[in-house]
Amino acid sequence: MNRIDLAGRSVVITGGARGIGLAVAERALASGANVALWDVDAERLQRTSDELASKHRERIVSDAVVELTDEASVEAAVQKTLAAHGKIDVLVNNAGITGGNGTTWELAPDVWRRVIDVNLIGPYLTCRAVVPHMLKSGYGRIVNIASIAGKEGNPNASHYSASKAGLIGLTKSLGKELAGKNILVNAVTPAAAKTEIFDSMSQQHIDYMLSKIPMNRFLMPEEAASLILWLSSEDCAFSTGAVFDLSGGRATY
Ligand SMILES: NC(=O)c1ccc[n+]([C@@H]2O[C@H](COP(=O)([O-])OP(=O)(O)OC[C@H]3O[C@@H](n4cnc5c(N)ncnc54)[C@H](O)[C@@H]3O)[C@@H](O)[C@H]2O)c1
Repeated sequence: MNRIDLAGRSVVITGGARGIGLAVAERALASGANVALWDVDAERLQRTSDELASKHRERIVSDAVVELTDEASVEAAVQKTLAAHGKIDVLVNNAGITGGNGTTWELAPDVWRRVIDVNLIGPYLTCRAVVPHMLKSGYGRIVNIASIAGKEGNPNASHYSASKAGLIGLTKSLGKELAGKNILVNAVTPAAAKTEIFDSMSQQHIDYMLSKIPMNRFLMPEEAASLILWLSSEDCAFSTGAVFDLSGGRATY
Protein backbone atom coordinates (compact mmCIF):
# COMPACT_ATOMS: atom_id res chain seq x y z
CA MET A 1 0.00 0.00 0.00
CA ASN A 2 1.34 3.47 -0.90
CA ARG A 3 1.79 6.03 1.83
CA ILE A 4 -0.44 9.09 1.72
CA ASP A 5 0.83 11.97 3.82
CA LEU A 6 -1.95 13.54 5.85
CA ALA A 7 0.13 14.20 8.96
CA GLY A 8 -1.63 16.64 11.26
CA ARG A 9 -4.49 17.22 8.83
CA SER A 10 -7.99 17.51 10.17
CA VAL A 11 -10.39 15.49 8.01
CA VAL A 12 -14.19 15.70 8.19
CA ILE A 13 -16.00 12.65 6.81
CA THR A 14 -19.76 12.80 6.43
CA GLY A 15 -21.48 9.43 6.73
CA GLY A 16 -18.36 8.27 8.56
CA ALA A 17 -20.12 5.74 10.78
CA ARG A 18 -19.96 2.88 8.27
CA GLY A 19 -19.23 1.74 4.72
CA ILE A 20 -17.00 3.82 2.45
CA GLY A 21 -16.88 6.65 5.03
CA LEU A 22 -15.49 4.29 7.65
CA ALA A 23 -12.85 2.99 5.20
CA VAL A 24 -11.86 6.60 4.51
CA ALA A 25 -11.59 7.27 8.25
CA GLU A 26 -9.39 4.18 8.78
CA ARG A 27 -7.02 5.11 5.96
CA ALA A 28 -6.94 8.79 7.02
CA LEU A 29 -5.92 7.81 10.56
CA ALA A 30 -3.29 5.42 9.19
CA SER A 31 -2.00 8.34 7.08
CA GLY A 32 -1.43 10.60 10.08
CA ALA A 33 -4.67 12.58 10.06
CA ASN A 34 -7.10 13.41 12.83
CA VAL A 35 -10.70 12.70 11.87
CA ALA A 36 -14.14 14.11 12.57
CA LEU A 37 -16.95 11.68 11.82
CA TRP A 38 -20.30 13.24 11.02
CA ASP A 39 -23.37 11.01 10.79
CA VAL A 40 -27.10 11.02 11.50
CA ASP A 41 -27.03 7.52 13.05
CA ALA A 42 -26.06 8.46 16.61
CA GLU A 43 -25.70 4.92 17.98
CA ARG A 44 -23.58 3.58 15.14
CA LEU A 45 -21.53 6.78 15.08
CA GLN A 46 -20.68 6.42 18.77
CA ARG A 47 -19.63 2.80 18.31
CA THR A 48 -17.44 3.55 15.29
CA SER A 49 -15.91 6.60 16.92
CA ASP A 50 -15.08 4.67 20.12
CA GLU A 51 -13.53 1.81 18.12
CA LEU A 52 -11.36 4.13 16.01
CA ALA A 53 -10.30 6.18 19.03
CA SER A 54 -9.16 3.09 20.93
CA LYS A 55 -7.25 1.81 17.88
CA HIS A 56 -5.56 5.15 17.21
CA ARG A 57 -4.86 6.64 20.64
CA GLU A 58 -2.25 9.04 19.29
CA ARG A 59 -4.84 10.75 17.05
CA ILE A 60 -7.91 12.87 17.64
CA VAL A 61 -11.15 11.14 16.68
CA SER A 62 -14.20 13.34 17.16
CA ASP A 63 -17.80 12.81 16.17
CA ALA A 64 -20.86 14.90 15.53
CA VAL A 65 -24.43 13.74 15.15
CA VAL A 66 -25.67 15.73 12.19
CA GLU A 67 -28.65 15.83 9.87
CA LEU A 68 -26.96 17.08 6.73
CA THR A 69 -30.08 18.57 5.21
CA ASP A 70 -30.44 20.97 8.12
CA GLU A 71 -28.32 24.14 8.10
CA ALA A 72 -28.33 24.60 11.87
CA SER A 73 -27.29 21.00 12.43
CA VAL A 74 -24.41 21.36 9.93
CA GLU A 75 -23.25 24.60 11.56
CA ALA A 76 -23.32 22.94 15.00
CA ALA A 77 -21.16 20.10 13.62
CA VAL A 78 -18.66 22.62 12.25
CA GLN A 79 -18.42 24.35 15.63
CA LYS A 80 -18.02 21.03 17.48
CA THR A 81 -15.30 19.97 15.04
CA LEU A 82 -13.42 23.27 15.32
CA ALA A 83 -13.55 22.99 19.12
CA ALA A 84 -12.00 19.51 18.94
CA HIS A 85 -9.49 20.03 16.09
CA GLY A 86 -8.98 23.80 15.77
CA LYS A 87 -9.31 23.63 11.96
CA ILE A 88 -10.78 21.73 9.04
CA ASP A 89 -8.30 20.91 6.24
CA VAL A 90 -10.30 18.28 4.38
CA LEU A 91 -14.00 17.74 3.81
CA VAL A 92 -15.15 14.41 2.38
CA ASN A 93 -18.81 14.67 1.37
CA ASN A 94 -19.55 10.96 1.55
CA ALA A 95 -22.98 10.53 3.19
CA GLY A 96 -25.66 9.47 0.76
CA ILE A 97 -28.84 7.44 0.32
CA THR A 98 -30.34 5.55 -2.64
CA GLY A 99 -34.05 6.15 -2.03
CA GLY A 100 -34.81 2.64 -3.32
CA ASN A 101 -35.54 1.63 -6.87
CA GLY A 102 -38.40 2.27 -9.25
CA THR A 103 -39.15 3.89 -12.55
CA THR A 104 -39.29 7.68 -12.57
CA TRP A 105 -43.08 7.66 -12.80
CA GLU A 106 -43.41 5.20 -9.92
CA LEU A 107 -41.12 6.99 -7.45
CA ALA A 108 -43.04 9.20 -5.03
CA PRO A 109 -42.25 12.95 -4.97
CA ASP A 110 -41.27 12.92 -1.28
CA VAL A 111 -38.76 10.09 -1.90
CA TRP A 112 -37.32 11.89 -4.95
CA ARG A 113 -36.96 15.14 -2.99
CA ARG A 114 -35.35 13.42 0.01
CA VAL A 115 -32.63 11.88 -2.19
CA ILE A 116 -31.86 15.28 -3.75
CA ASP A 117 -31.88 16.82 -0.26
CA VAL A 118 -29.41 14.36 1.28
CA ASN A 119 -27.13 13.74 -1.72
CA LEU A 120 -26.98 17.26 -3.18
CA ILE A 121 -28.31 19.91 -0.77
CA GLY A 122 -26.34 18.21 2.04
CA PRO A 123 -22.93 18.66 0.34
CA TYR A 124 -23.91 22.22 -0.65
CA LEU A 125 -24.66 22.99 3.02
CA THR A 126 -21.44 21.42 4.29
CA CYS A 127 -19.35 23.29 1.68
CA ARG A 128 -21.17 26.53 2.53
CA ALA A 129 -20.36 26.05 6.22
CA VAL A 130 -16.77 24.77 5.88
CA VAL A 131 -15.29 26.77 2.98
CA PRO A 132 -15.12 30.10 4.89
CA HIS A 133 -12.87 28.39 7.46
CA MET A 134 -10.67 26.94 4.71
CA LEU A 135 -10.44 30.38 3.11
CA LYS A 136 -9.27 31.82 6.44
CA SER A 137 -6.54 29.20 6.79
CA GLY A 138 -5.60 29.36 3.09
CA TYR A 139 -5.75 25.59 2.53
CA GLY A 140 -8.35 22.99 1.77
CA ARG A 141 -9.26 19.82 -0.06
CA ILE A 142 -12.87 18.81 -0.72
CA VAL A 143 -13.80 15.43 -2.16
CA ASN A 144 -17.38 14.71 -3.18
CA ILE A 145 -18.49 11.10 -3.44
CA ALA A 146 -20.70 11.06 -6.51
CA SER A 147 -21.43 7.88 -8.52
CA ILE A 148 -21.11 6.38 -11.97
CA ALA A 149 -24.91 6.73 -11.91
CA GLY A 150 -24.42 10.50 -12.04
CA LYS A 151 -22.47 10.18 -15.31
CA GLU A 152 -24.52 7.48 -17.01
CA GLY A 153 -27.96 7.53 -15.39
CA ASN A 154 -28.99 4.16 -13.98
CA PRO A 155 -32.49 3.00 -14.90
CA ASN A 156 -34.80 2.69 -11.87
CA ALA A 157 -32.69 5.22 -9.95
CA SER A 158 -33.47 8.59 -11.55
CA HIS A 159 -33.54 10.41 -8.20
CA TYR A 160 -30.15 8.99 -7.21
CA SER A 161 -28.61 9.50 -10.67
CA ALA A 162 -29.87 13.10 -10.83
CA SER A 163 -28.58 13.87 -7.32
CA LYS A 164 -25.11 12.57 -8.20
CA ALA A 165 -25.08 14.42 -11.55
CA GLY A 166 -25.93 17.54 -9.54
CA LEU A 167 -23.06 16.82 -7.17
CA ILE A 168 -20.69 16.63 -10.15
CA GLY A 169 -21.98 20.05 -11.26
CA LEU A 170 -21.45 21.47 -7.77
CA THR A 171 -17.89 20.09 -7.82
CA LYS A 172 -17.12 21.80 -11.13
CA SER A 173 -18.54 25.19 -10.10
CA LEU A 174 -16.99 25.28 -6.63
CA GLY A 175 -13.67 24.01 -8.01
CA LYS A 176 -13.46 27.02 -10.31
CA GLU A 177 -14.56 29.46 -7.57
CA LEU A 178 -11.76 28.26 -5.30
CA ALA A 179 -9.07 27.46 -7.88
CA GLY A 180 -6.86 30.40 -6.93
CA LYS A 181 -7.24 29.85 -3.17
CA ASN A 182 -5.34 26.60 -2.61
CA ILE A 183 -8.67 24.86 -1.96
CA LEU A 184 -9.19 22.04 -4.45
CA VAL A 185 -12.55 20.41 -5.05
CA ASN A 186 -12.87 17.08 -6.81
CA ALA A 187 -15.37 14.26 -7.16
CA VAL A 188 -15.10 10.50 -7.47
CA THR A 189 -17.63 8.32 -9.30
CA PRO A 190 -17.69 4.83 -7.80
CA ALA A 191 -19.48 1.85 -9.26
CA ALA A 192 -21.17 -0.46 -6.77
CA ALA A 193 -19.43 -1.36 -3.49
CA LYS A 194 -20.97 -3.98 -1.21
CA THR A 195 -21.86 -1.90 1.86
CA GLU A 196 -25.04 -1.61 3.92
CA ILE A 197 -26.36 0.74 1.20
CA PHE A 198 -27.19 -2.49 -0.70
CA ASP A 199 -29.99 -3.11 1.84
CA SER A 200 -31.90 -0.23 0.26
CA MET A 201 -31.72 -1.55 -3.32
CA SER A 202 -33.48 -4.37 -5.14
CA GLN A 203 -31.47 -7.51 -6.00
CA GLN A 204 -32.37 -6.88 -9.64
CA HIS A 205 -30.72 -3.44 -9.44
CA ILE A 206 -27.59 -4.83 -7.71
CA ASP A 207 -27.31 -7.51 -10.43
CA TYR A 208 -27.69 -4.82 -13.09
CA MET A 209 -24.88 -2.73 -11.56
CA LEU A 210 -22.52 -5.72 -11.37
CA SER A 211 -23.28 -6.72 -14.96
CA LYS A 212 -22.09 -3.27 -16.12
CA ILE A 213 -18.64 -3.54 -14.46
CA PRO A 214 -15.99 -4.95 -16.87
CA MET A 215 -13.81 -6.08 -13.93
CA ASN A 216 -16.78 -8.26 -12.98
CA ARG A 217 -16.59 -7.57 -9.24
CA PHE A 218 -17.69 -4.92 -6.77
CA LEU A 219 -15.49 -2.01 -5.71
CA MET A 220 -13.93 -2.49 -2.26
CA PRO A 221 -14.38 0.43 0.19
CA GLU A 222 -10.60 0.41 0.80
CA GLU A 223 -10.00 0.95 -2.93
CA ALA A 224 -12.32 3.96 -2.85
CA ALA A 225 -10.52 5.29 0.24
CA SER A 226 -7.14 5.23 -1.56
CA LEU A 227 -8.24 7.57 -4.32
CA ILE A 228 -10.40 9.73 -2.04
CA LEU A 229 -7.48 10.33 0.33
CA TRP A 230 -4.95 10.98 -2.41
CA LEU A 231 -7.36 13.68 -3.62
CA SER A 232 -7.46 14.91 0.01
CA SER A 233 -3.70 15.29 0.20
CA GLU A 234 -1.21 17.99 -0.82
CA ASP A 235 0.04 15.66 -3.58
CA CYS A 236 -3.15 16.48 -5.41
CA ALA A 237 -2.02 19.94 -6.50
CA PHE A 238 -3.12 20.69 -10.08
CA SER A 239 -6.54 19.01 -10.28
CA THR A 240 -9.72 20.77 -9.30
CA GLY A 241 -13.32 20.65 -10.44
CA ALA A 242 -12.46 17.21 -11.80
CA VAL A 243 -14.20 13.86 -11.76
CA PHE A 244 -12.14 10.74 -10.99
CA ASP A 245 -13.31 7.31 -12.05
CA LEU A 246 -13.77 4.34 -9.68
CA SER A 247 -15.89 2.15 -11.89
CA GLY A 248 -13.76 -0.92 -12.69
CA GLY A 249 -13.76 -0.02 -16.38
CA ARG A 250 -17.44 0.89 -16.76
CA ALA A 251 -16.97 4.58 -17.51
CA THR A 252 -16.12 5.43 -21.10
CA TYR A 253 -15.58 9.16 -20.54
N1 LIG B 1 -21.78 1.51 -2.03
C1 LIG B 1 -22.01 1.76 -3.32
O1 LIG B 1 -22.36 0.88 -4.12
C2 LIG B 1 -21.81 3.16 -3.85
C3 LIG B 1 -21.60 3.35 -5.22
C4 LIG B 1 -21.45 4.63 -5.72
C5 LIG B 1 -21.50 5.70 -4.84
N2 LIG B 1 -21.69 5.49 -3.52
C6 LIG B 1 -21.77 6.65 -2.63
O2 LIG B 1 -20.80 6.53 -1.62
C7 LIG B 1 -21.26 7.16 -0.43
C8 LIG B 1 -21.13 6.20 0.76
O3 LIG B 1 -21.89 5.05 0.47
P1 LIG B 1 -21.88 3.75 1.39
O4 LIG B 1 -22.06 2.60 0.49
O5 LIG B 1 -20.75 3.77 2.34
O6 LIG B 1 -23.27 3.97 2.17
P2 LIG B 1 -23.73 3.48 3.65
O7 LIG B 1 -25.22 3.41 3.59
O8 LIG B 1 -22.98 2.27 4.05
O9 LIG B 1 -23.28 4.70 4.59
C9 LIG B 1 -23.84 5.99 4.42
C10 LIG B 1 -23.76 6.74 5.74
O10 LIG B 1 -24.35 8.06 5.54
C11 LIG B 1 -25.15 8.37 6.67
N3 LIG B 1 -26.21 9.31 6.29
C12 LIG B 1 -27.24 9.06 5.44
N4 LIG B 1 -28.04 10.13 5.39
C13 LIG B 1 -27.52 11.08 6.22
C14 LIG B 1 -27.92 12.38 6.59
N5 LIG B 1 -29.05 12.93 6.13
N6 LIG B 1 -27.15 13.08 7.47
C15 LIG B 1 -26.03 12.51 7.96
N7 LIG B 1 -25.60 11.27 7.65
C16 LIG B 1 -26.34 10.56 6.79
C17 LIG B 1 -25.73 7.03 7.10
O11 LIG B 1 -26.18 7.05 8.45
C18 LIG B 1 -24.55 6.08 6.87
O12 LIG B 1 -23.75 5.92 8.02
C19 LIG B 1 -22.71 7.58 -0.72
O13 LIG B 1 -22.74 8.94 -1.10
C20 LIG B 1 -23.11 6.72 -1.89
O14 LIG B 1 -24.12 7.30 -2.68
C21 LIG B 1 -21.84 4.24 -3.00
